[in-house]
Amino acid sequence: MPIRRSLIAGNWKMFGTRAEAERLLSELKTRIGRPADREVIIAPPFTVLETVSRLVAGTSIGLAAQNLHWEPQGAFTGEIAGPMLKDAGCSHVILGHSERRQYSGETDELVARKVHAAHRDGLVPIVCVGETLEQRERGETTDLISRQVRTALHGHDHTTLASLIVAYEPVWAIGTGRTATPAQAQEVHAAIRATLAELSDHATAEMVRILYGGSVKPDNVDGLMAEADIDGALVGGASLQAEAFARIVQFR
Ligand code: PGA
Repeated sequence: MPIRRSLIAGNWKMFGTRAEAERLLSELKTRIGRPADREVIIAPPFTVLETVSRLVAGTSIGLAAQNLHWEPQGAFTGEIAGPMLKDAGCSHVILGHSERRQYSGETDELVARKVHAAHRDGLVPIVCVGETLEQRERGETTDLISRQVRTALHGHDHTTLASLIVAYEPVWAIGTGRTATPAQAQEVHAAIRATLAELSDHATAEMVRILYGGSVKPDNVDGLMAEADIDGALVGGASLQAEAFARIVQFR
């Protein structure tokens, strides 16, 4: 039994009406059935969380939100709190996605606050880190990712760290059709695991699932999933097509 169960998560981003969600989910359920050895999670927009929650009830598909506010409630117009996400059926929440860092000014410190909130509110965070092309070309990737992981995951006990999920998403690979090669991804995943070991210990770091994200498609998932430290995928564009996403879930 591997200690880390593979996980494929679909990030719908800002796509999906109720009708579209119903269509996609019904086809997806038929195609993937109930995979026993891997976990599947869908992260739709807030407005269809309830709909998707109802559609995945009784299946093995889990539900994630794409963001949360760090306070459990309050006067924060336009924000959504962790307890509300729990109430809508979520078990997980994506935090620190590069699109939120880029367009909504999220910093590592803010992500750290949100990770603590997720923990407090009983949601498993999927914490995203990743470098831009310029940072990679300047040779800064490993140092930068290590810093992102340290800051975002600061101040948790070993049990909490072991249960959370990290997603390595090179910014230059997101939505561009350019994927990191399996070797490039593995190198960063190993560095993330080494950083996790420094934050806790080797045994804890070995339990953390590290997903790769950035143009994961049916034709590159198998190579990525063959790497030792790649425990799953965070899939954007291809998660909006049932056939493509089902094939990614069925990686070999
Ligand atoms: P992509 O997005 O698969 O469309 O590149 C991945 C992500 O942003 O999570």
